[in-house]
Amino acid sequence: TRIDKAGHKHFMAKEITEQPAVIGDALGHYLSADGRDVILPGGDGLDFTQIDRMTMVACGTAYYACLTAKYWFEQLARLPVEVDIASEFRYREPPIPPRGVALFVSQSGETADTLAALRYCAGKAERIVSVVNVDESSIARESDLALPIHAGVEIGVASTKAFTCQLTVLLLLAIKAAKARGTLSEDAVADLLSKLRGLPATINIALEMDDDFKKAARRLAEADNALFLGRGLMYPLALEGALKLKEISYIHAEAYASGELKHGPIALIDKRMPVVVMAPRDALFDKTVSNMQEVMARDGKVILITDRRGAEAADGGIWRLLTLPEVDPVLSPILYAIPAQLLAYHTAVAKGTDVDQPRNLAKSVTVE
Ligand code: G6P
Repeated sequence: TRIDKAGHKHFMAKEITEQPAVIGDALGHYLSADGRDVILPGGDGLDFTQIDRMTMVACGTAYYACLTAKYWFEQLARLPVEVDIASEFRYREPPIPPRGVALFVSQSGETADTLAALRYCAGKAERIVSVVNVDESSIARESDLALPIHAGVEIGVASTKAFTCQLTVLLLLAIKAAKARGTLSEDAVADLLSKLRGLPATINIALEMDDDFKKAARRLAEADNALFLGRGLMYPLALEGALKLKEISYIHAEAYASGELKHGPIALIDKRMPVVVMAPRDALFDKTVSNMQEVMARDGKVILITDRRGAEAADGGIWRLLTLPEVDPVLSPILYAIPAQLLAYHTAVAKGTDVDQPRNLAKSVTVE
Protein backbone atom coordinates (compact mmCIF):
# COMPACT_ATOMS: atom_id res chain seq x y z
CA THR A 1 0.00 0.00 0.00
CA ARG A 2 1.24 3.43 -0.93
CA ILE A 3 1.38 5.85 1.98
CA ASP A 4 0.79 9.47 1.02
CA LYS A 5 0.19 12.69 2.90
CA ALA A 6 -3.57 12.61 2.25
CA GLY A 7 -3.70 16.34 1.52
CA HIS A 8 -1.51 17.36 4.45
CA LYS A 9 1.66 19.39 4.03
CA HIS A 10 3.69 16.91 6.05
CA PHE A 11 3.43 13.32 7.20
CA MET A 12 3.71 14.62 10.75
CA ALA A 13 0.53 16.70 10.32
CA LYS A 14 -1.28 13.72 8.86
CA GLU A 15 -0.11 11.45 11.66
CA ILE A 16 -1.19 13.96 14.32
CA THR A 17 -4.71 14.13 12.88
CA GLU A 18 -4.91 10.34 12.62
CA GLN A 19 -4.70 9.93 16.37
CA PRO A 20 -8.41 9.72 17.25
CA ALA A 21 -8.80 6.94 14.66
CA VAL A 22 -5.73 4.91 15.58
CA ILE A 23 -6.31 5.21 19.33
CA GLY A 24 -9.89 4.05 18.73
CA ASP A 25 -8.50 1.15 16.72
CA ALA A 26 -6.04 0.21 19.47
CA LEU A 27 -8.84 0.27 22.05
CA GLY A 28 -10.96 -1.93 19.82
CA HIS A 29 -8.21 -4.57 19.85
CA TYR A 30 -7.87 -4.70 23.63
CA LEU A 31 -11.37 -4.21 25.06
CA SER A 32 -13.71 -7.09 25.85
CA ALA A 33 -17.07 -7.20 24.03
CA ASP A 34 -18.92 -5.69 27.02
CA GLY A 35 -16.23 -3.02 27.33
CA ARG A 36 -15.64 -3.78 31.02
CA ASP A 37 -12.34 -5.63 30.75
CA VAL A 38 -8.96 -5.57 29.03
CA ILE A 39 -8.11 -8.59 26.87
CA LEU A 40 -4.44 -9.29 26.13
CA PRO A 41 -4.21 -11.63 23.13
CA GLY A 42 -1.58 -14.26 24.06
CA GLY A 43 -1.23 -12.76 27.51
CA ASP A 44 -2.41 -15.71 29.62
CA GLY A 45 1.10 -16.30 30.96
CA LEU A 46 1.30 -12.81 32.39
CA ASP A 47 -0.02 -13.05 35.94
CA PHE A 48 0.26 -9.70 37.69
CA THR A 49 -0.43 -11.26 41.08
CA GLN A 50 2.91 -13.11 40.77
CA ILE A 51 4.90 -9.97 39.91
CA ASP A 52 6.77 -7.79 42.42
CA ARG A 53 8.18 -5.15 40.10
CA MET A 54 8.44 -3.96 36.57
CA THR A 55 11.47 -2.67 34.69
CA MET A 56 10.72 -0.54 31.62
CA VAL A 57 13.37 0.27 29.06
CA ALA A 58 13.26 2.34 25.86
CA CYS A 59 14.81 5.26 23.93
CA GLY A 60 13.57 8.68 22.85
CA THR A 61 9.83 9.26 22.78
CA ALA A 62 9.17 5.64 23.75
CA TYR A 63 11.18 6.28 26.92
CA TYR A 64 8.80 9.12 27.82
CA ALA A 65 5.87 6.77 27.27
CA CYS A 66 7.53 4.49 29.86
CA LEU A 67 8.02 7.37 32.31
CA THR A 68 4.31 8.17 32.01
CA ALA A 69 3.36 4.53 32.50
CA LYS A 70 5.39 4.39 35.72
CA TYR A 71 2.86 6.77 37.30
CA TRP A 72 -0.02 4.60 36.07
CA PHE A 73 1.41 1.26 37.25
CA GLU A 74 2.39 2.65 40.61
CA GLN A 75 -0.82 4.60 41.26
CA LEU A 76 -3.41 2.26 39.77
CA ALA A 77 -1.81 -1.15 40.35
CA ARG A 78 0.53 -0.34 43.29
CA LEU A 79 3.30 -2.07 41.33
CA PRO A 80 6.82 -0.62 41.79
CA VAL A 81 8.33 0.39 38.46
CA GLU A 82 11.79 1.46 37.40
CA VAL A 83 12.33 3.12 34.05
CA ASP A 84 15.61 3.36 32.22
CA ILE A 85 17.13 4.58 28.98
CA ALA A 86 18.22 1.52 27.01
CA SER A 87 21.81 2.70 26.40
CA GLU A 88 22.31 3.20 30.14
CA PHE A 89 20.51 0.06 31.23
CA ARG A 90 22.40 -2.35 28.98
CA TYR A 91 25.88 -1.34 30.12
CA ARG A 92 25.04 -0.87 33.78
CA GLU A 93 24.10 -4.56 33.93
CA PRO A 94 21.53 -4.09 36.71
CA PRO A 95 20.35 -7.04 38.79
CA ILE A 96 17.00 -8.40 37.55
CA PRO A 97 14.86 -9.70 40.40
CA PRO A 98 13.17 -13.05 39.59
CA ARG A 99 9.56 -11.93 40.11
CA GLY A 100 9.95 -9.00 37.75
CA VAL A 101 8.54 -8.18 34.34
CA ALA A 102 10.87 -6.49 31.86
CA LEU A 103 8.94 -4.31 29.44
CA PHE A 104 10.39 -2.75 26.28
CA VAL A 105 8.66 -0.03 24.29
CA SER A 106 9.70 0.63 20.70
CA GLN A 107 7.85 1.98 17.68
CA SER A 108 10.17 0.28 15.18
CA GLY A 109 11.00 -2.74 17.32
CA GLU A 110 14.54 -2.50 15.93
CA THR A 111 16.31 0.12 18.07
CA ALA A 112 19.74 -1.41 18.75
CA ASP A 113 20.06 -0.33 22.38
CA THR A 114 16.53 -1.43 23.28
CA LEU A 115 17.04 -4.80 21.61
CA ALA A 116 20.35 -5.30 23.46
CA ALA A 117 18.63 -4.43 26.76
CA LEU A 118 15.94 -7.01 26.00
CA ARG A 119 18.55 -9.68 25.29
CA TYR A 120 20.24 -8.85 28.58
CA CYS A 121 16.97 -9.53 30.44
CA ALA A 122 16.11 -12.74 28.58
CA GLY A 123 16.33 -15.68 30.98
CA LYS A 124 16.57 -13.36 33.99
CA ALA A 125 13.17 -11.65 34.15
CA GLU A 126 10.01 -13.63 34.85
CA ARG A 127 8.56 -12.38 31.59
CA ILE A 128 9.71 -10.24 28.63
CA VAL A 129 6.93 -8.03 27.34
CA SER A 130 7.14 -5.51 24.52
CA VAL A 131 4.91 -2.75 23.25
CA VAL A 132 5.66 -2.30 19.54
CA ASN A 133 4.24 -0.82 16.37
CA VAL A 134 5.97 -3.18 13.95
CA ASP A 135 4.60 -6.63 14.79
CA GLU A 136 7.23 -8.66 12.95
CA SER A 137 10.18 -6.71 14.40
CA SER A 138 13.14 -8.20 16.30
CA ILE A 139 11.92 -6.86 19.65
CA ALA A 140 8.44 -8.33 19.09
CA ARG A 141 9.87 -11.70 18.02
CA GLU A 142 12.19 -12.02 21.00
CA SER A 143 9.51 -11.17 23.60
CA ASP A 144 7.36 -13.66 25.53
CA LEU A 145 4.46 -11.32 24.85
CA ALA A 146 4.39 -8.58 22.20
CA LEU A 147 1.56 -6.07 22.44
CA PRO A 148 0.95 -4.22 19.15
CA ILE A 149 -0.06 -0.57 19.38
CA HIS A 150 -1.97 -0.50 16.06
CA ALA A 151 -0.78 3.01 15.15
CA GLY A 152 -0.22 2.12 11.49
CA VAL A 153 2.88 3.13 9.54
CA GLU A 154 4.56 6.20 11.01
CA ILE A 155 6.72 8.15 8.53
CA GLY A 156 7.51 11.42 10.34
CA VAL A 157 10.83 11.05 12.18
CA ALA A 158 9.35 12.80 15.21
CA SER A 159 7.01 10.24 16.74
CA THR A 160 3.40 11.35 17.32
CA LYS A 161 0.66 8.78 16.85
CA ALA A 162 2.98 5.97 17.96
CA PHE A 163 3.48 7.84 21.26
CA THR A 164 -0.23 8.20 22.03
CA CYS A 165 -0.91 4.61 20.98
CA GLN A 166 1.96 3.45 23.21
CA LEU A 167 0.38 5.40 26.06
CA THR A 168 -3.02 3.87 25.33
CA VAL A 169 -1.71 0.31 25.39
CA LEU A 170 0.41 0.95 28.50
CA LEU A 171 -2.59 2.42 30.31
CA LEU A 172 -4.70 -0.61 29.33
CA LEU A 173 -1.94 -2.84 30.71
CA ALA A 174 -1.81 -0.86 33.96
CA ILE A 175 -5.60 -1.15 34.30
CA LYS A 176 -5.35 -4.90 33.64
CA ALA A 177 -2.67 -5.15 36.35
CA ALA A 178 -4.75 -3.11 38.78
CA LYS A 179 -7.76 -5.37 38.28
CA ALA A 180 -5.68 -8.54 38.76
CA ARG A 181 -3.99 -7.16 41.88
CA GLY A 182 -7.31 -5.97 43.33
CA THR A 183 -6.21 -2.35 43.59
CA LEU A 184 -9.08 -1.18 41.33
CA SER A 185 -12.61 -2.52 41.66
CA GLU A 186 -14.44 -3.96 38.67
CA ASP A 187 -16.60 -0.85 38.52
CA ALA A 188 -13.62 1.49 38.69
CA VAL A 189 -12.04 -0.46 35.83
CA ALA A 190 -15.23 -0.29 33.76
CA ASP A 191 -15.50 3.44 34.46
CA LEU A 192 -11.92 4.14 33.32
CA LEU A 193 -12.38 2.01 30.22
CA SER A 194 -15.57 3.82 29.28
CA LYS A 195 -13.77 7.16 29.68
CA LEU A 196 -10.97 5.83 27.46
CA ARG A 197 -13.52 4.98 24.79
CA GLY A 198 -14.61 8.62 24.84
CA LEU A 199 -11.06 9.89 24.48
CA PRO A 200 -10.82 9.90 20.64
CA ALA A 201 -13.77 12.34 20.51
CA THR A 202 -12.07 14.57 23.10
CA ILE A 203 -8.82 14.48 21.11
CA ASN A 204 -10.81 15.65 18.08
CA ILE A 205 -11.85 18.74 20.03
CA ALA A 206 -8.18 19.44 20.84
CA LEU A 207 -7.26 18.99 17.16
CA GLU A 208 -9.89 21.56 16.21
CA MET A 209 -7.95 24.10 18.29
CA ASP A 210 -5.19 23.92 15.66
CA ASP A 211 -5.34 27.67 14.98
CA ASP A 212 -4.76 28.52 18.65
CA PHE A 213 -1.64 26.37 18.70
CA LYS A 214 -0.50 27.91 15.44
CA LYS A 215 -0.80 31.42 16.91
CA ALA A 216 1.13 30.47 20.05
CA ALA A 217 3.74 28.73 17.89
CA ARG A 218 4.32 31.85 15.81
CA ARG A 219 5.59 33.54 18.96
CA LEU A 220 7.48 30.48 20.17
CA ALA A 221 9.32 30.45 16.82
CA GLU A 222 11.00 33.75 17.78
CA ALA A 223 12.65 32.20 20.84
CA ASP A 224 16.14 30.69 21.06
CA ASN A 225 15.33 28.71 24.20
CA ALA A 226 12.20 27.34 25.81
CA LEU A 227 11.41 25.67 29.10
CA PHE A 228 8.65 23.09 29.65
CA LEU A 229 7.23 22.45 33.11
CA GLY A 230 4.86 19.82 34.46
CA ARG A 231 4.37 17.74 37.56
CA GLY A 232 2.99 14.26 38.15
CA LEU A 233 1.71 12.75 34.92
CA MET A 234 2.47 16.03 33.15
CA TYR A 235 6.20 15.83 33.88
CA PRO A 236 6.92 13.16 31.25
CA LEU A 237 4.66 15.12 28.89
CA ALA A 238 6.76 18.23 29.45
CA LEU A 239 9.85 16.16 28.56
CA GLU A 240 8.14 14.94 25.41
CA GLY A 241 7.04 18.48 24.48
CA ALA A 242 10.61 19.75 24.82
CA LEU A 243 11.95 16.81 22.80
CA LYS A 244 9.45 17.41 19.98
CA LEU A 245 10.29 21.11 19.87
CA LYS A 246 14.07 20.63 19.71
CA GLU A 247 13.85 17.75 17.23
CA ILE A 248 11.97 19.61 14.54
CA SER A 249 12.32 23.36 15.22
CA TYR A 250 15.93 23.25 16.52
CA ILE A 251 14.97 25.58 19.36
CA HIS A 252 16.84 24.60 22.49
CA ALA A 253 14.22 23.29 24.87
CA GLU A 254 14.41 21.55 28.18
CA ALA A 255 11.86 20.22 30.59
CA TYR A 256 11.80 20.21 34.35
CA ALA A 257 9.47 18.87 36.98
CA SER A 258 7.73 22.06 38.15
CA GLY A 259 8.93 21.52 41.70
CA GLU A 260 12.55 21.67 40.50
CA LEU A 261 12.13 25.16 39.02
CA LYS A 262 13.76 26.81 42.00
CA HIS A 263 16.66 24.35 42.00
CA GLY A 264 18.23 25.73 38.84
CA PRO A 265 16.18 26.62 35.79
CA ILE A 266 14.68 29.73 37.41
CA ALA A 267 18.11 31.32 36.90
CA LEU A 268 17.45 31.22 33.15
CA ILE A 269 14.16 33.11 33.24
CA ASP A 270 14.03 36.53 31.59
CA LYS A 271 11.75 38.22 29.08
CA ARG A 272 13.12 36.16 26.22
CA MET A 273 12.27 32.83 27.85
CA PRO A 274 8.94 31.23 26.95
CA VAL A 275 7.84 28.70 29.57
CA VAL A 276 5.31 26.11 28.47
CA VAL A 277 3.36 24.89 31.50
CA MET A 278 1.28 21.75 31.06
CA ALA A 279 -1.20 21.60 33.90
CA PRO A 280 -4.79 20.41 33.97
CA ARG A 281 -6.56 21.53 37.14
CA ASP A 282 -5.70 18.76 39.58
CA ALA A 283 -4.86 18.44 43.25
CA LEU A 284 -1.46 20.09 42.69
CA PHE A 285 -2.65 22.91 40.45
CA ASP A 286 -2.23 25.60 43.12
CA LYS A 287 1.45 24.72 43.37
CA THR A 288 1.71 25.14 39.60
CA VAL A 289 0.11 28.58 39.86
CA SER A 290 2.79 29.66 42.30
CA ASN A 291 5.49 28.29 39.96
CA MET A 292 3.99 30.37 37.16
CA GLN A 293 3.98 33.45 39.35
CA GLU A 294 7.68 32.95 40.02
CA VAL A 295 8.28 32.80 36.27
CA MET A 296 6.14 35.88 35.55
CA ALA A 297 7.76 37.88 38.35
CA ARG A 298 10.99 37.49 36.33
CA ASP A 299 9.30 38.55 33.06
CA GLY A 300 9.21 34.98 31.72
CA LYS A 301 6.47 34.36 29.16
CA VAL A 302 4.07 31.63 30.29
CA ILE A 303 2.20 29.53 27.74
CA LEU A 304 -0.29 27.67 29.92
CA ILE A 305 -1.93 24.53 28.58
CA THR A 306 -4.76 23.63 30.91
CA ASP A 307 -8.49 22.94 31.09
CA ARG A 308 -11.43 25.27 31.73
CA ARG A 309 -11.18 25.08 35.52
CA GLY A 310 -7.43 25.62 35.34
CA ALA A 311 -7.92 28.64 33.07
CA GLU A 312 -10.33 30.10 35.62
CA ALA A 313 -8.00 29.48 38.53
CA ALA A 314 -4.86 30.83 36.84
CA ASP A 315 -4.43 34.54 37.61
CA GLY A 316 -3.74 37.19 35.02
CA GLY A 317 -0.39 37.69 33.39
CA ILE A 318 -0.43 34.49 31.34
CA TRP A 319 1.13 35.17 27.93
CA ARG A 320 -0.80 32.55 25.98
CA LEU A 321 -3.63 30.47 27.43
CA LEU A 322 -4.61 27.25 25.68
CA THR A 323 -7.72 25.62 27.13
CA LEU A 324 -8.31 21.92 26.45
CA PRO A 325 -11.45 19.90 27.23
CA GLU A 326 -11.60 18.35 30.68
CA VAL A 327 -10.75 14.66 31.10
CA ASP A 328 -10.21 12.28 33.99
CA PRO A 329 -6.68 13.07 35.26
CA VAL A 330 -5.58 9.48 34.58
CA LEU A 331 -6.19 10.01 30.86
CA SER A 332 -4.67 13.47 30.65
CA PRO A 333 -1.24 12.47 29.25
CA ILE A 334 -2.84 11.11 26.08
CA LEU A 335 -4.82 14.33 25.52
CA TYR A 336 -1.96 16.68 26.45
CA ALA A 337 0.30 14.99 23.90
CA ILE A 338 -1.73 16.80 21.21
CA PRO A 339 -0.74 20.37 22.20
CA ALA A 340 2.87 19.21 22.72
CA GLN A 341 2.90 17.93 19.15
CA LEU A 342 1.01 20.83 17.55
CA LEU A 343 3.13 23.49 19.25
CA ALA A 344 6.31 21.84 17.97
CA TYR A 345 4.84 21.23 14.53
CA HIS A 346 3.64 24.79 13.94
CA THR A 347 6.84 26.24 15.37
CA ALA A 348 8.88 24.17 12.93
CA VAL A 349 6.61 25.18 10.04
CA ALA A 350 6.97 28.85 11.04
CA LYS A 351 10.74 28.42 11.03
CA GLY A 352 10.70 26.60 7.70
CA THR A 353 12.61 23.52 8.86
CA ASP A 354 12.29 20.08 7.31
CA VAL A 355 9.55 18.77 9.59
CA ASP A 356 9.42 15.15 8.42
CA GLN A 357 13.18 14.71 8.02
CA PRO A 358 14.89 16.85 10.68
CA ARG A 359 18.64 17.21 10.30
CA ASN A 360 20.87 14.56 11.88
CA LEU A 361 17.96 12.39 13.06
CA ALA A 362 16.85 8.94 11.90
CA LYS A 363 13.46 7.33 12.27
CA SER A 364 14.96 4.15 13.56
CA VAL A 365 18.40 3.84 15.13
CA THR A 366 19.51 0.28 14.42
CA VAL A 367 23.21 0.87 15.12
CA GLU A 368 24.80 2.19 18.30
C1 G6P B 1 14.67 7.70 17.16
C2 G6P B 1 13.41 8.41 16.66
C3 G6P B 1 12.47 8.72 17.83
C4 G6P B 1 12.17 7.44 18.60
C5 G6P B 1 13.44 6.72 19.05
C6 G6P B 1 13.15 5.34 19.58
O1 G6P B 1 15.41 8.59 17.93
O2 G6P B 1 13.77 9.60 15.98
O3 G6P B 1 11.27 9.27 17.34
O4 G6P B 1 11.39 7.77 19.72
O5 G6P B 1 14.33 6.54 17.95
O6 G6P B 1 12.68 4.54 18.51
P1 G6P B 1 11.78 3.28 18.70
O7 G6P B 1 11.53 2.76 17.29
O8 G6P B 1 12.57 2.29 19.52
O9 G6P B 1 10.54 3.68 19.37
